Amino acid sequence: MQLHRGIIIELKPDEAKARAILPAMDGMETDWLPVAQHWTHRGATYQMPRMDQQVYVIYAADHAADGLILASLYSQKHPVPTPKEGLEADSYFISTADGTKLHIKPGYVYISTPGDIEAEAKGTITASAAGAIHAETKSSLTAKAASSATVEAGSQATIKAPQITLDAPQVTITGALKVANDAVISGKSFLGHRHGGVMSGTSTTAVPV
Ligand SMILES: [Fe+2]
Repeated sequence: MQLHRGIIIELKPDEAKARAILPAMDGMETDWLPVAQHWTHRGATYQMPRMDQQVYVIYAADHAADGLILASLYSQKHPVPTPKEGLEADSYFISTADGTKLHIKPGYVYISTPGDIEAEAKGTITASAAGAIHAETKSSLTAKAASSATVEAGSQATIKAPQITLDAPQVTITGALKVANDAVISGKSFLGHRHGGVMSGTSTTAVPV
């Protein structure tokens, strides 16, 4: 068994293989070697070293025998990551060069990316929280259902916008309707409309028949 320190010089991501240069072996370059993975059965984990990353390469006997690229070690140049929420012994943490991060530790899951997050399910997606759920976007917000949709609040519900359109052939309001300003019905102002066939005067009309 021989263990060498190497530097990754080439990657074959779709085969989970890499080549490394071994500085202590007169700069010998390895063949394509498999990169050790944690899970390869009943699901899989996948993790490749980065270009120029320091790794450890193990050979069964001599250099002609099967080799394997083992995990890397942190170094002064590439120290242990320091996520803002801190690392614990139970932490599982991944980050990529663009700042995408996934951190799982007891009682805590953190996902962050400068790009997109996609969640896809053939079944149901349920998000529930004992506390508040807060969804905020600097762009638009769309919720679309192929069948029915319900928004329900235990106390008061408010929809606030400079303009609101209820786009439906029929709208039913089961309670009383209060309108603070005028209402226009089929083009006629409720407050400003006039009746024909009556003389103007001080009397008021009877209630509608
Ligand atoms: Fe009227």
